[in-house]
Amino acid sequence: MSFSRRQLAKSCVGIALAALAPIAHSGLKKRLIDFKALPSSLGKGKMPAISKDYEYQVLVPWGDPLQPQGPNYSWPANWKDQQEQIGVGHDGIAYFSLGKDNGLLAINHEYGRNLHVLGLEDPVTREHVLASQSAHGVSIVEITNENGQWAKKQSKYSRRIHVNSPVEFSGPAAESELLINPANNPCLGTLSNCANGRTPWGTYLTCEENFNLFFGSDKAFTPTYAQKRYGYSQKGGGYGWYQFDERFDLVNEAFKNEGNRFGWVVEIDPMNPRSLPIKRTGLGRFKHEGASVVESKDGRISVYMGDDSRFEFIYKYVSSRPWREMYNLGKNPLDSGDLFVAQFSASGHGNWLKLDVRQPLLSRHFASQADVLVNTRLAATLLGATPMDRPEWMTEGSNGFIYCSLTNNSRRKTPDAANPQAPNLHGHIIRFREEENGKKFVWEIFISGIDHYESESSFSSPDGLWADSDGRLFIQTDGDQRDGLNNQLIVADTNTGETRRLLTGVPGCEITGIAVTPDQRTMFVNIQHPGRGDPAITNFPHRLDGVTVPRDCTLAIRRKNGGIVGS
Ligand code: FEO
Ligand code: CA
Ligand code: CA
Repeated sequence: MSFSRRQLAKSCVGIALAALAPIAHSGLKKRLIDFKALPSSLGKGKMPAISKDYEYQVLVPWGDPLQPQGPNYSWPANWKDQQEQIGVGHDGIAYFSLGKDNGLLAINHEYGRNLHVLGLEDPVTREHVLASQSAHGVSIVEITNENGQWAKKQSKYSRRIHVNSPVEFSGPAAESELLINPANNPCLGTLSNCANGRTPWGTYLTCEENFNLFFGSDKAFTPTYAQKRYGYSQKGGGYGWYQFDERFDLVNEAFKNEGNRFGWVVEIDPMNPRSLPIKRTGLGRFKHEGASVVESKDGRISVYMGDDSRFEFIYKYVSSRPWREMYNLGKNPLDSGDLFVAQFSASGHGNWLKLDVRQPLLSRHFASQADVLVNTRLAATLLGATPMDRPEWMTEGSNGFIYCSLTNNSRRKTPDAANPQAPNLHGHIIRFREEENGKKFVWEIFISGIDHYESESSFSSPDGLWADSDGRLFIQTDGDQRDGLNNQLIVADTNTGETRRLLTGVPGCEITGIAVTPDQRTMFVNIQHPGRGDPAITNFPHRLDGVTVPRDCTLAIRRKNGGIVGS
């Protein structure tokens, strides 16, 4: 097994190991990970650094025109132009192939601080707020590869979805009064778009995470229990949108349910540029990190989702029927199914607890299933879900395990089996395998930041995850790394636990978002908030061309010998 004796002891996992034995990859002649690791000494500079066997290209930086003929980058952002330009804060990403060497990138734009986007701490006009709102959301952009270089292309598919774009609701809570305001304003926008997923029917899932930070008020208020649990505060994240947009004013009674319209998984059809994004309420409302869709043997889909806050939970949505059957009947598989939350036991087993209002524990407190879904966090606590150390991305490995990164938790005082570090400064990755037709699971700790911290492949605060079909797990980091190392992309062998460093970013950035072309010869990853937006730290991706503001962007990574990325 790939976990150490020390991890075993710490996590008290005493289950029959045979049950968890990974599928052996017999007959593999080459090492799964064969590239030269990037030494940590080279991962501290102002520009990204990559393994000697690899190269990268910068693509679609914030503010570039979406279409080749669109409005050119200028700073600070202008709201009209920004709606036709790539957004800020690149995060989750997916590649939808349109043929050989041609495809669409869907890119989440999680956040950009006012100082970075507007050059101001606080908005002074409504146009400033509109510019900030227009920089958030999602970009869909067409790219093509010519002679080994990717470039943007004029496209009927390219579009921006931002905080004022029309959206729809679907699923069990769609008609709920909890999603209607006294002002009767239309449903607009997606926000704080963090990680992502994609469905087997070819759509993109964008996940709304720290939406609370965009709300606030100039009046003091006493948050309700639910508002506290979702993290609302008077100042929020300091965006000040409420000063010019009453939708985001927490004490404006006319918009009292506006906050309930965020915190969802949103489905976007990249192939139909006129389609509206649809918020799928069946998947619950929380600080959605990502939505990893897995097809089971019986044809149903499971969607694995982390709720990234300290002491929040891991969730799973399961469609009621095989997805193809539902899809052929014109029903969206994300609209009819059950939502579960994970409970980990010290024995290495776990239960999926169903968030169903008919359960006595919930029926006493919630008026309807819509009420449960809008207030998912509260319902999950009542059921006895296990509070985790900030669940971020999830992915299915080639060995059938589901991997989940638990990035860190500085506030944990009491360790438990699934979260054995207190405080958890460097994070860990847990993995589990479904049992009993998905009602239960068995789990173990796959890798832990503290155990690797002093090694040459040291990493801390795992966040983005993606597993390929050969047994590699790509791990992206978001947090302070050892000795000033920039955030990084590590490749792990899930059979042996071996890790190698492939890429490091720039100071102040996180590395996030993973997409690959179908041939796995190009991997797209994102540099988010380079220099934390401060040009004194870095002006990446510019060099000395007179433009000083750092810009979030995508890196297209290739192996120099044309091999599969990660090999
Ligand atoms: Fe958007 Fe939890 O990272
Ligand atoms: Ca993240
Ligand atoms: Ca993170």
